[in-house]
Amino acid sequence: MWMKRAVRRAMPAPLYAAMRRLRHGGTDRRPAAGALTPGSGRSAAAAASSAGAFAAARADAEATEGMLSEFSMAVMDSLLALQDDLAIAGHVVEFGVFKGRSAMLLAHRARPSERLILVDIERYLDQKRLADVFPGFEFVQCASEAFARTFPDYRALAGNCRFLHVDSSHGFRTTLAELAMAEELLAERGILVLDDFTNLNYSQMIAATYKHLYSGKSGLAMFLVTEEKGYLCRAADFEFYARYVLAEMLGDMAARGLAGVCLARTDTDPEYRAIHLRPHLPGESGPHYGESIYGALYREP
Ligand SMILES: C[S@@+](CC[C@H](N)C(=O)[O-])C[C@H]1O[C@@H](n2cnc3c(N)ncnc32)[C@H](O)[C@@H]1O
Repeated sequence: MWMKRAVRRAMPAPLYAAMRRLRHGGTDRRPAAGALTPGSGRSAAAAASSAGAFAAARADAEATEGMLSEFSMAVMDSLLALQDDLAIAGHVVEFGVFKGRSAMLLAHRARPSERLILVDIERYLDQKRLADVFPGFEFVQCASEAFARTFPDYRALAGNCRFLHVDSSHGFRTTLAELAMAEELLAERGILVLDDFTNLNYSQMIAATYKHLYSGKSGLAMFLVTEEKGYLCRAADFEFYARYVLAEMLGDMAARGLAGVCLARTDTDPEYRAIHLRPHLPGESGPHYGESIYGALYREP
């Protein structure tokens, strides 16, 4: 109690009131002060037309047994569509396929000129259903840890992948191996997605990810986190993707039927400035968590 009183005395009243509202799940309805920074530069018409393709991808993915949620489908599809609209090219690779639910979503966005490579230690994949959507997909039966060593075309993939989805064992060593591959495989403007990154049943993934990111040897940066996945890009592309998230991501989610979603950002330290995308909490509304305190952090990457 004495602590609360001391904090209240030390803080300017409006700041204290705003923090109390946030702590108690209250709504911060104040409009953003100042316009958002411009986003990726693609047209609104292109964004809307890309979103239109999502319904078919989601229906096919939902008809496939697996673990990908509707929320993550919308996030991944938004990012794949952005790449598509801006002609960001490269192969699409998944580690951990199971029956092919997330692979189905990837298959809907992979272009015929790109390779869709699906890696799993077991052969659970429903190959026929996937072939109907992307006939040229390649299934590689091996552990992620062995892929770099054993896949004959690995060198040809290096620097040429625009989207990597990692959803395999979630083990500490496996995740380190998958991050090492991402360093080699990602193209310019490529994206790495780590499934279950924030699931504390697999907390070793967080440990492995930050061991790798802060090793002093990594060229990757986390730009987006959700309650399900972490999204990384090359550090040089952080500004591009963070700008997109700040300016366009909520619109893209809404266009895919996911309204009631907001961004949360409470620090922009040069060493870590990822943005959290999540559903509104009860009583919340508006695009930004803590606009009255952290508003400036939503203006620029
Ligand atoms: C959670 S499931 C993948 C779910 C799938 N992405 C979906 O959308 O439904 C995990 C998959 O990873 C595979 N797996 C487990 N350990 C692996 C490893 N070390 N390397 C590659 N795949 C692995 C399993 O066989 C399983 O099919």
